Amino acid sequence: MTMQPEKIGIYEIKSELGRGGMATVYKAYDPRFEREVAVKVLPSELLHADPQFRLRFEREAKIIAQLEHSAIVPVYDVGEADGQPYFVMRYMNGGSLSDRIKAGNLTIEDAVRILGTIAPGLDEAHSNGIVHRDIKPSNILFDKRGNPYISDFGIAKLSQAQSGNVTGSAIIGTPAYMAPEQAQGIEVDGRADIYALGIILFEILTGKQPYEADTPMAVAIKHITDPVPHIRQTNPKLPEAVDTIIQTAMAKDKTQRFSTAVDMTNALGEAARGDPTKIHIKPALAPSGGAREAAPTPKASVPPIPPKKGFNAFFVILPVIAIAIFAGGFFLFNGNRGRAATAPPVSTPVATSTSAPLPTETSAPVDNPTSIPIAEIEATITETSLPPTATEITVPALPTLGGADKIAFVANNEIWIMNVDGSDRKQLTVDGGLKNDLQWLPDGENIVFISGLTIKYYNVKTNVVETLTSFPSASSLNAFRVSHDGKQVIVALNNEIFVVPFDLEKLKNVHKKSELLALEPCIVPQGKTKSALVVKEARWAADDLLVAWLYKGPFASDQVSVLDIHDCDPTKIKIVDTFPGTHFEVPGFQSGILLDFDWDGFNQFIFNTARRNGGWGDLHIYNWESHRPTLTINPVGRKCCYRDARWSPDGTYLLFTFQDEGLAANAQTLFYYVPYGDIGAGANLTPIQLPDGFFKNPKEAPQPALRPAQ
Ligand SMILES: Nc1ncnc2c1ncn2[C@@H]1O[C@H](COP(=O)(O)OP(=O)(O)OP(=O)(O)O)[C@@H](O)[C@H]1O
Ligand SMILES: [Mg+2]
Repeated sequence: MTMQPEKIGIYEIKSELGRGGMATVYKAYDPRFEREVAVKVLPSELLHADPQFRLRFEREAKIIAQLEHSAIVPVYDVGEADGQPYFVMRYMNGGSLSDRIKAGNLTIEDAVRILGTIAPGLDEAHSNGIVHRDIKPSNILFDKRGNPYISDFGIAKLSQAQSGNVTGSAIIGTPAYMAPEQAQGIEVDGRADIYALGIILFEILTGKQPYEADTPMAVAIKHITDPVPHIRQTNPKLPEAVDTIIQTAMAKDKTQRFSTAVDMTNALGEAARGDPTKIHIKPALAPSGGAREAAPTPKASVPPIPPKKGFNAFFVILPVIAIAIFAGGFFLFNGNRGRAATAPPVSTPVATSTSAPLPTETSAPVDNPTSIPIAEIEATITETSLPPTATEITVPALPTLGGADKIAFVANNEIWIMNVDGSDRKQLTVDGGLKNDLQWLPDGENIVFISGLTIKYYNVKTNVVETLTSFPSASSLNAFRVSHDGKQVIVALNNEIFVVPFDLEKLKNVHKKSELLALEPCIVPQGKTKSALVVKEARWAADDLLVAWLYKGPFASDQVSVLDIHDCDPTKIKIVDTFPGTHFEVPGFQSGILLDFDWDGFNQFIFNTARRNGGWGDLHIYNWESHRPTLTINPVGRKCCYRDARWSPDGTYLLFTFQDEGLAANAQTLFYYVPYGDIGAGANLTPIQLPDGFFKNPKEAPQPALRPAQ
């Protein structure tokens, strides 16, 4: 094993995160985007063994990098350094599903949440013709908020494409999660991943894998031959329907499996809610196009073979090798349970034809990889051939991206709402009054906004605007921000900051400073917050223990301060950071004007300078934990100008508005909602479709607010 390098490409290596079957993953720092990343280094043998590898690596890497879904770990970059190919991906610091399974105590509700979140990502990949081939708990990683993501898309395929000098195939996967057809070396499609999902479900609910044996070979053979174990024999408390779901997902015959991962997780959701009558189980290939409602009894296409007496290894190995050479099928096992994590990939011959006599419990040679040539497999599997999904009437779910399902915004002085993909755009208000600082309340039903000296809220269910309260004698009312837990609210009144309990009933009767103070605020304008600040906007940390606000600071320059208010004691308030302040100069910040900012709730802020049209400028990211200078990101082809950028609720997407400075007076206000990982990656970003000239006033601030997916 090599020592930890200092750098891989431009990435500064910090520590080793772990090693899997064939790669080493490092935590690293990306100086370009000033963020932590994970760098996965593949063995240099891949390059050396195959002159074609580089080409394929680049081609495959492009396909993988284009996979874009909020449940897929984004790949930021690929490259080759010192002869080693590497992938750069988002750093996931919430551990893996395999850690969580080991820790125990996962419930069926956890399974619904975890698998339900990744299922659409898997389906999206499948509909793009990409099969993962190595779905397993260690490839399901969590972010700091506990959201699960699928990682290592396409790595199995890439590694598999390596060749030796012998024709034949090398199959990569992890035996414990391998569908029968994959174990047999025959063509796989998305349904092999669904099979693996069935195994993972089994493992989440029991802590055990359905098939266990001493050798990878024996495990692989069990997938081909052994009936699917009944989960209720291990965990009798589970609903019967869960067994049906596992039997269906793991059907030996892939046409009997669920056609999509979402079908499977929907069925699981119903099972968890305890309504077996509602469970829809739909085989992948419904006969003559019709959907079948009833759960099919899964039939193994390969009947289990009873163990034969005197069936010894010699007898087994010979026919297996003979078949393997004939069909050119070899396994390259990519790590396996019970084997040290650092064990090199193991090659094992295996039968490739179901008509061949199948060995049962065997101990084939698994630990002598050099004696068995690893041969090339034709890349036959790029295009999956999933049959068209059988039609079934379901209530269409709202599209969800970045953990949000709706965008509320201001256009032509009215509040509008649309889906995150721009569909279903509707105008909500008609009063023409000023509207500022839009925010969704945690209930997902009400949009709060400031109109002059009044705080109002619009209920999207009843379509009624109501007044929350008003401050008729105030000189200014610039911010009203409710915490994520809905318990507190930051109020910026007369350029002073208050943090008070968010109690609708009480707030109705609050119309001046003294009445705000009577609510026993966490923060009152005294001590460090006393100076007459021209507060413009405020935000909460994800855990509601820190707040940040934008105000006119010393020397009349705008700045953002981050305050620790966890004591909720005005005398103990700590300013933990202020930017741009004295840290550094923001290019283009000569005006000293910042009109808007947003916070991912953790370490990243986003804001724009003001350069044209009363508030459009360069878009900057600032990481307040690293205290490094801000980074100008200008996502749309590096061009100016932006405003009102927002992080998505899960921190993976950015929503912003853009006016192309180059088009001068012809520039339109455009909305973009794009994966953060795409920014700077050279991808062409597409704006949300809006009619031409939708925003009548180029100086209007759209102030969008994303609704966390309901
Ligand atoms: N993007 C990431 N962020 C944080 N940790 C990661 C990331 N990717 C992988 N890791 C960690 O690095 C370790 C090695 O990952 P790797 O993918 O090489 O192994 P694996 O998933 O166990 O097996 P396989 O090689 O079959 O994928 C694992 O412990 C994993 O949790
Ligand atoms: Mg992995």
